[in-house]
Amino acid sequence: MKILIKNASELVTCSGTSPKKGEDMKKLNIIENGAVLVEEGIIKKVGKTEEILKEINESEYEVYDAKGKAVLPGFIDSHTHFVFGGYRADEYYLRLKGATYMEIMEKGGGIINSVEATRRASKDELIELGKKRLDSMLSFGVTTVEGKSGYGLDFDTEIKQLEVYKELNDIHPIDIIPTFLGAHSIPREYRCRNIEYIDFIIEKVLPYIKEKNLAQFVDVFCEKNVFSVDESRKLLLAAKMMGFKLKLHADEIVSLGGAELAAEVEAVSADHLLQASDKGIDMMAKRGVIATLLPATAFSLKENFARARYMIDNGLAVALASDFNPGSCFTENLSLVIALATLYMNMSLEEAITAVTINAAAAVGMEKEIGSIDVGKKADIIILEHPSYKFIPYHIGVSIVEKVFKNGKLIY
Ligand code: NIG
Ligand code: FE
Repeated sequence: MKILIKNASELVTCSGTSPKKGEDMKKLNIIENGAVLVEEGIIKKVGKTEEILKEINESEYEVYDAKGKAVLPGFIDSHTHFVFGGYRADEYYLRLKGATYMEIMEKGGGIINSVEATRRASKDELIELGKKRLDSMLSFGVTTVEGKSGYGLDFDTEIKQLEVYKELNDIHPIDIIPTFLGAHSIPREYRCRNIEYIDFIIEKVLPYIKEKNLAQFVDVFCEKNVFSVDESRKLLLAAKMMGFKLKLHADEIVSLGGAELAAEVEAVSADHLLQASDKGIDMMAKRGVIATLLPATAFSLKENFARARYMIDNGLAVALASDFNPGSCFTENLSLVIALATLYMNMSLEEAITAVTINAAAAVGMEKEIGSIDVGKKADIIILEHPSYKFIPYHIGVSIVEKVFKNGKLIY
């Protein structure tokens, strides 16, 4: 199968095979009147339309005319929790009346509510829900998504969630990168026995996940009243020894030293970082840890936004993601994430686009295969309704994605 996308008013390549830091985040490498050739799902040529047309016989290709439209790499949502049972609209309603996320958690609500519903849900129910959520993400131009467990907190349900991700990956065109987040909260059965729970994960759950290849990353919610820095370190180092890549929910509500820990254990990314210290940011920059920022969560929790400007100016590679989950951020809308990052985090639009493409690819360890329109990469490509990427945040809250190609196949 050979396809040609031609006449793109802006071919936004985001060219690169490693995460972009500092000034480089502004470089989108745009080709005006651009074209892309794809064979067997892989990008074969990228350039000006008139030059590419000289080199090929157009009749051999399935042709898509992108005249008056911008073409970009498929977006990568590198931080989500999209497989869960039940909803928490009642908690959101309480937050509208002034309750905080932490108050709700301390009264026994929050993540634990979703755990109960997820334990009750059958695998088939979770697969049906997952499919719908993936379809919605696809409509926003997402071609690869990271998905976390963490609404089971017992062996069977954590494994059930990871198996659901695996099945969804087989049946849905979006690629799913699975992350084990068994340390998302302390289950009721282990109340006040955090270390015993961490030991249970290390001894019983991680070896099984490794053997069945059910997750690439291990993540932990390192937060006041959840898992301390020492508990998180113990889990992350054990996971690293078993060959997992690492992520952290770090310094989201309280400045606890999560960013520093991410640097110490050489995590691929540290996520949230609303309260990350200068020292933690500096340490992350030195160790090349990606800062995955989740502005829709800060927005939804009415928290202050992460210091993206400071991070980029101090040499960090920043990625942006949705954090889609039933509690702190119930949205799969990456256009909204980009709008918030540019309105409230002082990121330029070019930096925000880099943050959902090549830098997000790096946050899931796939910067050599996806995240840009470069020869040799997978043909994960989106076409917008409009001539410029500048329309993405401008048309607030909706998707302007017209077509999505995954591995060179039109899927939306
Ligand atoms: O990334 N902070 C921890 N985990 C999620 C929220 C999960 C939930 O509330 O269900 C987050 O915000
Ligand atoms: Fe999260």
